[in-house]
Amino acid sequence: MKDLLQKAKEAMTQSYSPYSGVKVGAALLTKNGKIFLGTNVENAAFGPSCCAERSAFFSAVSQGEREFSAIAIVGGKDGKIADFFPPCGVCRQVMAEFCGADFPIYLENDRGEVKSLTLGELLPHAFTKEKF
Ligand code: THU
Repeated sequence: MKDLLQKAKEAMTQSYSPYSGVKVGAALLTKNGKIFLGTNVENAAFGPSCCAERSAFFSAVSQGEREFSAIAIVGGKDGKIADFFPPCGVCRQVMAEFCGADFPIYLENDRGEVKSLTLGELLPHAFTKEKF
């Protein structure tokens, strides 16, 4: 858990966020032990921006991964971690495409406190491919 959070902090340093100034890092662990990093990549047109969590998922899936065991996420204004940085709703939905309700999401604040949440807690009653 701490190792994965450390990787998320490393990913955060790569953030391209000239508009919001918010730097976010994500480290996604696959079931076969690989780690994929993601950061937020913003765009002058705003809409095309991509969150760190989706960057990590899309990178992993692009490289053939479909099964995941955990994700760690950190973020903060100007790259300074303050409070826990939970994933946005769109990223929760992307997680639900590949991960079940028990998928662990690790967060860390500036006091070194770690929160371990599940996708089911963050996105109850998820709309998934099992619905059709
Ligand atoms: N952001 C993420 O990377 N992940 C989230 O879950 C929430 C928001 C990014 C998007 C944007 O670059 C910046 O944080 C401010 O919203």
